[in-house]
Amino acid sequence: MVKKTIRDFDISSKRVIIRCDFNVPIKDGKIIDDNRIRQSLETIEYALSKKAKIILMSHLGRIKNEEDKKKNSLEIVGKRLSELLKYPVIFIDETRGEKLDKAISSMKDGDIILMQNTRYEDLEGKKESSCDLDLAKYWASLGDVFINDAFGTLHRAHASNVGISQFLPSGIGFLVGKELTALSSLFDPERPFLIILGGSKVSDKIGLIDHLITKCDKLLIGGGMAYTFLEAEGYSIGNSLVDRDSLEFCNKILKQYGNKIILPVDSYCSTSFTNDGPKNLRDINEIEYQEMGLDIGDKTVELFEKYLKDAKMVLWNGPLGVYEFDNYKKGTEAVLTFLSKSDAKTVVGGGDTAAVANELHLAEKLYHVSTGGGATLEYLEGKELPGLKNIEEV
Ligand code: 3PG
Repeated sequence: MVKKTIRDFDISSKRVIIRCDFNVPIKDGKIIDDNRIRQSLETIEYALSKKAKIILMSHLGRIKNEEDKKKNSLEIVGKRLSELLKYPVIFIDETRGEKLDKAISSMKDGDIILMQNTRYEDLEGKKESSCDLDLAKYWASLGDVFINDAFGTLHRAHASNVGISQFLPSGIGFLVGKELTALSSLFDPERPFLIILGGSKVSDKIGLIDHLITKCDKLLIGGGMAYTFLEAEGYSIGNSLVDRDSLEFCNKILKQYGNKIILPVDSYCSTSFTNDGPKNLRDINEIEYQEMGLDIGDKTVELFEKYLKDAKMVLWNGPLGVYEFDNYKKGTEAVLTFLSKSDAKTVVGGGDTAAVANELHLAEKLYHVSTGGGATLEYLEGKELPGLKNIEEV
């Protein structure tokens, strides 16, 4: 199934609605990672080169009250986008109404309008998130063509993606195309194909493990989730994080695929979940009862690198230690740096791991760093992404 892209539509002088995922992290009124905005530039620049009238939509955060609205205005995104494009972006502080209608009806070819956060419509009746069809129809009436380039939102069936695409000729943008190509290459991978999983909860990764374990040659597990696997293996892991509800799954998967699964052999441990507590390097069978593992140890880094050095493809999802703490980010950084120098095609599956790759400026050295979090996981679990449902096929 090949989906139509923005190239398949005559968009010159047309009103093109481009749904982006500008859901970027903001702290103290500043964007702290503008990667999702940068990744949307190619599609917007293409539409500009065709002299389309460009209407941009996105959500930002979750809106439950007036305070959330204040914190999650897209105005700051409009400013950053304009800087990156070196081109004016007209921000309209409305998701519907006279001001927006007027601004759109007086657009000239090559104008760019960014409308306010689509989730402002969630405040009364969750209209955006429940895919309210009247809202979707109204938004669709503002454009002639709909382009979905919000990869990170493809797992949501909301009015601004699934809804609008019901009422307009619809295609995907370059970012969605790039993401789908890179991620789908993992379903028929070059071998050896290794998967690295980290992060705190096994339960978040069960779908992915189930779907990809037969396709991979080795599954390397770090992060908080490793301790649930270690507990299932019978190790004493002290006070380390255990996802009790997933123990049965770990037992089952270890029994069936134990020869593929590589667990940490040592850990940096502490007696408190803080950056500054005592830090002890322990072999995995020597974790003391009051200690918790907070990062993979040096021998584990070496072990992981031993397997990774021959890999042709690697999928990585989830940090290998508590990345928020400087003292426990070294394992993640070491393995990421190793992969950035290797010939393996490494796909980083979004979320925290992508943030680390961007922070370390290693993203350009990797095959693909996804902009999705939940969307990437659902796609890799083999689920159908609702955001693609109404997109026309070539
Ligand atoms: C994301 O950051 O994963 C997407 O933008 C979707 O956001 P949501 O989880 O708030 O729907």
